[in-house]
Amino acid sequence: MSQESSAAGYAGSASSVAHGLWSSRWVFILAATGSAVGLGNIWKFPYITGANGGGAFVLVYLACILVIGIPLLMAEVMIGRRGRKNPAGAMAALAKRAGASRHWRMVGGLAVLTGFLILSFYAVVAGWALAYIPAALSGSFTGLTAESSGALFGELLADPLKLVLCASLVLLATLAIVACGLHKGLERAVRYLMPGLFILLLILVGYAATTGYFGRALEFLFVADFSKLSGETVLVALGHAFFTLGLASGAMMAYGAYLPEGTSIAKTSILVAIADTGVALLAGLAIFPIVFANGLEPGVGPGLVFVTLPIAFGQMPFGQLIGVLFFVMLLIAALTSAISISEPSIAWLTERFGISRLKAVLTSGGVLWLLSLGSVLSFNVGADFTLFGKTFFDSLDYLTTNWMMPLGGLGTVLFAGWVLQQTTQREAIGIASDRWFLIWRWVLRYPAPLAIMLVFLQVIGVFG
Ligand code: PHE
Repeated sequence: MSQESSAAGYAGSASSVAHGLWSSRWVFILAATGSAVGLGNIWKFPYITGANGGGAFVLVYLACILVIGIPLLMAEVMIGRRGRKNPAGAMAALAKRAGASRHWRMVGGLAVLTGFLILSFYAVVAGWALAYIPAALSGSFTGLTAESSGALFGELLADPLKLVLCASLVLLATLAIVACGLHKGLERAVRYLMPGLFILLLILVGYAATTGYFGRALEFLFVADFSKLSGETVLVALGHAFFTLGLASGAMMAYGAYLPEGTSIAKTSILVAIADTGVALLAGLAIFPIVFANGLEPGVGPGLVFVTLPIAFGQMPFGQLIGVLFFVMLLIAALTSAISISEPSIAWLTERFGISRLKAVLTSGGVLWLLSLGSVLSFNVGADFTLFGKTFFDSLDYLTTNWMMPLGGLGTVLFAGWVLQQTTQREAIGIASDRWFLIWRWVLRYPAPLAIMLVFLQVIGVFG
């Protein structure tokens, strides 16, 4: 098949995709940014940076975004658009066209599973943001100290019913939007709320600058002390690069499958990565000055954002209003990500078993809900139940982000770099310049897989 006729063939099949296509390139950018920007940037990035010693970790994370994240993001969107199916189906179809083994679909299958597991605990954390909205509204942040703020968060975690209720509402909202199809809810949400979140973060950074500890935070985030790096830290940085860009979980492949032909995958991917990284760094700059000003410990773990920011809201002018707005936007940022995380498994269920979208949503919703209970209980009554010394919530997070994502990412870079033919890649990726195309391809073939493998070998202890 000539390139032209094959492109026409894809365009033809594109129009028959059940879910339709994004209405424009801009909407795709917003949706992909909505997927990338979420709890990973505002909740997770600050706390893992705090727990892993700051600057050196941030540097490794940024390197992972550049060398592995961006090229892989491009590859995933490309695979989605060429395959026009759920991740497993798309990889199977592309492998077949390239004359390679159909087993490549297992890489796509792993991604679908990874996303599914992530959503089960992601909804729980999004539930915390939901629970903090009425708290902010009722003025309970006024006069909070480090101690009382910690206690407030502790109270929430100790209340399984409230946590279940909040996580269930988040799951319900996510699945309701997904069930209706993407266009109206999601497109509208990202169009107004993402810019809003960005502005609020800037206000918070402005407030943080008045605490007198901004310099200390800058130093913590950007001055690298390499003695704080270990193989494990590098694995966490790598895992987070995947998590924050929504890679190796099917989300970007699924969104790529709805991308109209003719949109430059390279340009859009780079924009998304810049927005995502920018939001994470801003969150760090908003949070760490408050951490230091209140004598909090940067390494306290998952509660970091929920303990520090309310202190600031309790002190700043218009704090009550800003606090409410902040948690509303955090919730929306989480929802736009959650929607994208649920899309691959729902697309997989409908395409693989030929069931309706609604049935797929109900089936996966039920299983997700049960799994989310495990995470909820791990903060209270089930805290003593541990796997490899970690609670259920921590184990799921650790397994998916630090192992399944890098492993799936490795499979995907190998597939995109070595299995797909150059003509397919070139046509699909839309980089006009020969030089940049070749650089992208080279990075995908050598440095990216090598880097992922090296991190794995290091963690397994091959280097002693
Ligand atoms: N990138 C999202 C965040 O940072 C999370 C996510 C994970 C989205 C996996 C899609 C797929 O919050």
